[in-house]
Amino acid sequence: MHIIPSLLVKSKEEFLSQLDSLDHMVTHLQLDIADGQFVPTLTWSDPAIIASIEGYTFELHLMDLHPLETIALWKDIPSITRLIIHVESVTNLSDAIEHARTFGREVFIALNPETKLEVIETVHTHIDGVLFMGVKPGFQGQTLIPEVLEKIAQCRKKYPDLYTELDGGVQEDTLAAIVESAVHAICPGSLVFRHTRTAREQIIHLKQKINELKAL
Ligand code: DX5
Repeated sequence: MHIIPSLLVKSKEEFLSQLDSLDHMVTHLQLDIADGQFVPTLTWSDPAIIASIEGYTFELHLMDLHPLETIALWKDIPSITRLIIHVESVTNLSDAIEHARTFGREVFIALNPETKLEVIETVHTHIDGVLFMGVKPGFQGQTLIPEVLEKIAQCRKKYPDLYTELDGGVQEDTLAAIVESAVHAICPGSLVFRHTRTAREQIIHLKQKINELKAL
């Protein structure tokens, strides 16, 4: 199971300090882009700064009412490798996917906790993966909604080729159930960046915990 740390930051300083704490322990990160409308949170993100960062690739988690317009601001940045669009933020999902594909990156769909898996029925062959929100999007430190794990297990059975990520509510006490769901990746935010250990130390610790759980 991959660990894709989720950066939900309000300033360049916070972004750079979280990168520093990671110390290249992973190479792929999730950058939360929240517009203050789709979710109440307004995050910091600056394509020029991201373009200057070496040694990381990024997936953009668009919590944004105008995801395609926002994606266009990032089109010339090679380290952006994955675009994640919320199904709840677009009116025509297949048109949005088709448009997102023109940017030449992987295209994932994000589902809020209450959104049914059925919404990807007609588009699953046109996407590269699904991001399952384990919490109401926009904030860190919330408790995982357990029904989301059932939705992930359902997706792994029905669409075995689709890559799956869980974002939101990843904590040590939920890791066993998360591993059980067979999700491909977790996107921890507070567990990695709002902990007494450095992000680097926390990721080493989490990798060990996950290996122990997988060995059970
Ligand atoms: C929530 C964000 C998540 C968040 C996860 O809206 O999309 O990526 O950073 O934070 P935790 O892991 O603390 O729930």
